[in-house]
Order: sequence, then structure tokens, then C-alpha cells
Amino acid sequence: MNILVVGSGGREHAIVWKLAQSPKVKKIYCAPGNGGISDIAECLPINALDIEGMVNAAKEKKIDLVIVAPDDPLAKGMVNAMTDAGIRAFGPTKEAALIEASKAFSKELMRKYGIPTAEYGLFDDSREAFQYLKSHKYPLVVKADGLALGKGVLICQNQQEAEAAVISIMEEKKFGDSGNKIVIEEFITGPEVSILAFTDGKTIIPMVSSQDHKRALDGDKGLNTGGMGTFSPSRVYTPEIAELCMQKIFLPTIQAMNNEGRPFKGVLYFGLMLTESGPVLLEYNARFGDPETQVILPRLKTDLLEIFEAVIDEELEKVQLAWNDNACVCVVMASGGYPERYSKGHVIEGLDTISDAIVFHAGTKKENGCYYTNGGRVLGVTAMAETIEKARERAYHAVSCIHFQDAHFRRDIGIKSFDQP
Ligand code: AMP
Ligand code: GLY
Repeated sequence: MNILVVGSGGREHAIVWKLAQSPKVKKIYCAPGNGGISDIAECLPINALDIEGMVNAAKEKKIDLVIVAPDDPLAKGMVNAMTDAGIRAFGPTKEAALIEASKAFSKELMRKYGIPTAEYGLFDDSREAFQYLKSHKYPLVVKADGLALGKGVLICQNQQEAEAAVISIMEEKKFGDSGNKIVIEEFITGPEVSILAFTDGKTIIPMVSSQDHKRALDGDKGLNTGGMGTFSPSRVYTPEIAELCMQKIFLPTIQAMNNEGRPFKGVLYFGLMLTESGPVLLEYNARFGDPETQVILPRLKTDLLEIFEAVIDEELEKVQLAWNDNACVCVVMASGGYPERYSKGHVIEGLDTISDAIVFHAGTKKENGCYYTNGGRVLGVTAMAETIEKARERAYHAVSCIHFQDAHFRRDIGIKSFDQP
């Protein structure tokens, strides 16, 4: 089969890497891809948001299956457009992707269907939001309704900070139209776990658990980022908690989306917080997580292509997922300055010296046989071993062999897994 993967990050590299192991795959294209992806797939210079361009390329290259990985083309309806053009595509429709694209929609869904989530208020008028801020306990969390590259969430310690957050999101439009509405939410605490699940709208099969490190600096300090590293499995996500989540969160969500006339097919990502009073759902994503995918797919033994096809054909109940017992750790090497200003175009050295880790490329490009930095998150250096401790050692050893100017990475990825109470 000819496959086209849409996107250009570490997640897409992991998907392409895994699909390349499938005996049914003849050729993989990726658009736009990156330096590392270009070693195993043909990259097409099409913007991930260019729906018409992507449909045309899929027709021209006789693509049998398109995988739309990032949130924004999903929210804009790339899967709908492919399907309308008679091309098989993996991922939710734009109607179903609203579960990620609008926090107002997802919070109302959780409330309506009794899915445990943080208490909140929803506002499209800043004056009403200011009123709410007067009468609630702090900290409070202010969130832009729409997509904002994982940066539209502001934790506010007092009323003054919260008012400034409302002004910057709703009035100054820091995140553009994503801030036309806001959610103001109670602040909750506990370890955060990411559960990604395949679903065809009838059956839902969770993948192995993982934990992300969203803040830029060690000890969960600094600004929120797209994710600075992950590990799998999560020790705190016990089989008992998994069963509770299945009954109270996962199955009710699938049912809710069906009831709302928005059946969800694809990967549904549950951002959970394990609070003292039980698991609480912080957010949904309508896609594979990044960098969660980089620690999940290396553990998957089942053919990923078979799973994608079963989801599209609504035959997921026939699939059994098999996983290896290894632990996996991914350390993101980012450009100095990320998630704020950073420079690009620096040569990356040492990649050819890595033997017992997998280096998933994110913001890289390849020119004349050399790799250069080309984005905020540059590489996801991933290693497996029997334990998180050993996988960590391997990943960090590989990181120490890779060099580019102003490289920044956290030194504590995975430590949570043995430090958490
Ligand atoms: P989200 O985009 O909703 O996942 O939020 C990004 C990050 O902000 C989460 O991973 C949490 O670390 C934090 N966060 C979001 N909502 C809350 C909340 N209600 N209480 C505490 N932390 C939160
Ligand atoms: N790692 C968080 C996300 O993919 O949204």
C-alpha cells in the first residue's frame, strides 16, 4: 500500500518509523516531513494545513491511506475532504475533532455526560468573566477555548493575575480567535497521565500509559511547552485506576460523541489528573500526543497499519493490541530559547554515533547529507530497557553524544516515575 502521513514532528517520525515495519506497506510519503523522516519516506513540500494540496497529492501519488496526525488539519476537516474525494483517511472528522478544538465544547460535553472534570465557568464576555474572578478561590486556571499550540492555559495565583489573563486572551487576542471564548477552571492537583486510545466509535482500546513533562525546565519549572520528554509506562496508573477510567471516562466519552451525532474514529487522547478524589479529565486531544507517541509506538508489537484499517472499517473489536514489556523514555532536545524565541539552521552532529537509542526528528531539515535544526523541539531521543531507570540512562547517554548550538533539554525526564509518592 501507498501511505501518506500528514505532519512534520517527532510524532509523525514515530508513526512513519512504525508503519515502515509493516509488510503491507509499499511506499510511505510524508508531508511536509522533516530531515529524519526523509531518510525513510519521501517528503512532499505541502503545508500540513493545505487541504486542497494534500488531496491533490494523495490522488496524484495514488495513496491508499492517509494518516492525518496534527490537530489543526483535523479541526479544519482534512479527513472529511479526503473521504469526500474517495480517499481512505485515518483520523476524526472535523465535527469529532471539535472535542479538542473547543474547550467550551469539551467541558460542556463532560458536564452533560457526568464525566469527572474540574469545576468551571464558560464566558464569551470579559465583564462576566471578571465577575466570576471576584467570587472564586485561587489559584484559578484561565484557558482559551480554541487551539493554541498547548500554550493557551494560564495558571493564575490571584485575582490580579487572572484579570490580566482574561484581558490578554479575550481583549488583546493573544491566541487570536481561539480566545473569543474562555474557560475558567478550578485548580486541581495530582500526577498527570496521558492515555491514548484507538477507537472506531464502537470499541475503544487504550494504549499503554505514559507521562509527559510539559514545562521547559527541570523540576516542572518555566513556561509550558508542547512537551519536553515522556516515559512509559506510568507507575501511578494502576490497573484499578485504568478500569475506573474506562467506566467513568473512556466509554462515556465514546457514547457521548455518538449521542451528539459526532462519532469519533481515530486516536482519542485523555489528559488525566489523578487527584485524591479519583481520576479527573483535564482535556481531550483528537490525535496522537507528541512526545507521547515516541514512547508508545516503540512498545507496540501489533502492526500499526492493521489497527488503522480496523478503525476506519469499524472492526476494531477484532484487533488485540500486543505490547512489549520494556520501559521507554524520550528526552526532547530543543533549541535554546524554546518555547519563546530561538534560532534555527544549526548543524546537528553525532547522530551517526547512536546505536542503542532511536532518534525521532522533530524540527530538523536535511541538506547535502547534513542535518540542521529547523524548529523549537528538534529531536526526541528515545531508548528502551527493562526499567525506566535503565531506559533513562540509555537515552541520556545518547543525548550526550548529540550536539548542536544552544541545545536545551531537561535532565530530569523520567525521574518522576520513581520519585512520585
Ligand atoms: P491542557 O492544555 O488543558 O492540558 O492544560 C495544560 C496543562 O496545564 C496541563 O497539562 C496541566 O499541567 C495544567 N492544567 C490544566 N488545567 C488544570 C487545572 N484545572 N488544574 C491544574 N492544572 C491544570
Ligand atoms: N504532549 C501533549 C500533546 O500532545 O498535546
